[in-house]
Amino acid sequence: MNILMFGDVVGRPGRAVLSEHLREIITEYEADIVIVNGENASGGNGLTLKNAKQLMALPINCITMGNHVWKQKEILDYLDDYPMIVRPINYPDALPGKGIYQFEHEGTKIAVLNASGQVFMEELDSPFGVIERRLEAILDGCDVLIVDFHAETTSEKLAMGHWLDGKAAIVAGTHTHVQTADARLLPKGTAYITDLGMTGPAESVLGVQKEIIVHKMLTKLPARFEIEKAYPRQINGICVSVDESTYRPTAIERICRIYQSPGASSMKR
Ligand SMILES: [Fe+2]
Ligand SMILES: [Fe+2]
Repeated sequence: MNILMFGDVVGRPGRAVLSEHLREIITEYEADIVIVNGENASGGNGLTLKNAKQLMALPINCITMGNHVWKQKEILDYLDDYPMIVRPINYPDALPGKGIYQFEHEGTKIAVLNASGQVFMEELDSPFGVIERRLEAILDGCDVLIVDFHAETTSEKLAMGHWLDGKAAIVAGTHTHVQTADARLLPKGTAYITDLGMTGPAESVLGVQKEIIVHKMLTKLPARFEIEKAYPRQINGICVSVDESTYRPTAIERICRIYQSPGASSMKR
């Protein structure tokens, strides 16, 4: 079984490049399952229902979120209606939505878990503590556990990967929007990458027009962030192959595509 995961989809450019190219990537990798981080899919901030429906119209099994999950307030009203959209599990339980989504694929029970880091991020319950309390029940109920750990620091993400090594099939980091070059199988078999990267405008600062961020860095003045609309655009993620009898990952490959213009075929970076 081949599982694709893609890093944070940023704004309209991210939605567009994914809409245009996802199907060909699925065909190329003979993918069975697709997971996309959607926390920045609406103008860089959160996920409107309209944009969620656009993503759900694509062959996507699950949308994970992150610290931007509540930025579009309407999600408070619609999240409970769409269990395939998961928000970090370590937000207060009283909030809408769930931190885990379970589904079946040809008899294999899959669980996708989303958690947020604590280091240099909003203070939430410890992702390690929250997962530890539920881990046995989660593993009892699934064959393949996939974790999107949305965190800032490489250390916190590496620690999560090693802690869940041999328990989760995949631990993939998101949030930094820059793909890391450390995709590998950990010693006990978990497929791991510190950050999947970003799906959106390639020549930008994490999706935002680079001139705005450079000006902000030079002047320290507050600035209104605008998503870069120009090409090139990129798709970042991983493909993980999982053995269907042992449920153990057998390979992980980074996906890092760049598209110079609409309709262009990809170049590998
Ligand atoms: Fe993000
Ligand atoms: Fe984030």
